[in-house]
Amino acid sequence: MGLARILRAVSELSDRHFNVLRVIERNSMRGSLTRVESVSRAMKLSEQYLAKLLSELHDASLVWSPAGRKSGYVLNYAGLDALALRAMLRRGIVASVGNVIGVGKESDVYAADTPEGERVSLKLYRAGRLSMTRYRRTRSLPSELGSYLAASTRFAANEVRALRVLYEAGLPVPFPVYRNRHAVVAQLIDGVPLVKVKSIPKPPELVLEELLKAVKDAHSAGIIHSDLSAYNVLVDAEGRSWIIDWPQWVRRDHPNVLFYLRRDVQNLIDFFKRRYHMDLPPSLIEEFLRSVTPT
Ligand SMILES: Nc1ncnc2c1ncn2[C@@H]1O[C@H](COP(=O)(O)OP(=O)(O)OP(=O)(O)O)[C@@H](O)[C@H]1O
Ligand SMILES: [Mg+2]
Repeated sequence: MGLARILRAVSELSDRHFNVLRVIERNSMRGSLTRVESVSRAMKLSEQYLAKLLSELHDASLVWSPAGRKSGYVLNYAGLDALALRAMLRRGIVASVGNVIGVGKESDVYAADTPEGERVSLKLYRAGRLSMTRYRRTRSLPSELGSYLAASTRFAANEVRALRVLYEAGLPVPFPVYRNRHAVVAQLIDGVPLVKVKSIPKPPELVLEELLKAVKDAHSAGIIHSDLSAYNVLVDAEGRSWIIDWPQWVRRDHPNVLFYLRRDVQNLIDFFKRRYHMDLPPSLIEEFLRSVTPT
């Protein structure tokens, strides 16, 4: 569903609707459905009135009733988006949301504007998106939807935790502005994914060197990207590389740290060899790993 519809729902629905939506959110995260009677008791409102609020949330597609309305409701991604966007609008983090600037397997990224008129990026996680259409068909109980919503929130929190440390350490990563639930607002990088760059305004050897230095500095700051590839590097007009997409980072003291580090660096080296026909010595990766983790 488009974000425009969700933003409209956010502006049109009342505080009461959102109080109900938060109850559904809490239950959904635990994997349980929310029925009219239970909210009615918790919120001390009549069942009739609650049935109306729930039905309006359902009409706005923010909740889903997988086994019919009587059996209860569960929050869906549109509902989670609505909760996060409402919080951001109210806190003055963003004033409006613009176009999609990136669609990944498990996230959608939008350009947004702050009240001060600054452009930022807004990343909305969608863990489990690929497997979720299946649930619609089978109408099976959505306890897994709940765990996906929770996973998306965890990814967003992980990403922001890494970005704070890395930005502080001076790495070329987007500045993390704010997180709410599964939504991350960060500095908008005016760049193109390295995989799509036609010509870099800098010798590719230099770009690779800078990236390897960034991997090394991130390691010094205690963080290994562990999904690093030319897809997760944005190159700006000056040829500066920015490393994005950090939800799956691991700590330096992770037992398999060398595996992740090696894979990250190998991805980069392989890309530069393939794309720019760079003649790199096979020993490069071992030398790099030795320089990062001297024994
Ligand atoms: N801070 C940012 N500034 C500019 N563009 C961004 C920013 N963050 C993400 N994007 C754009 O959105 C795309 C997807 O973002 P990102 O790589 O963070 O997540 P993802 O690839 O969807 O994650 P997944 O690995 O689940 O597919 C990027 O390729 C990039 O084009
Ligand atoms: Mg990515």
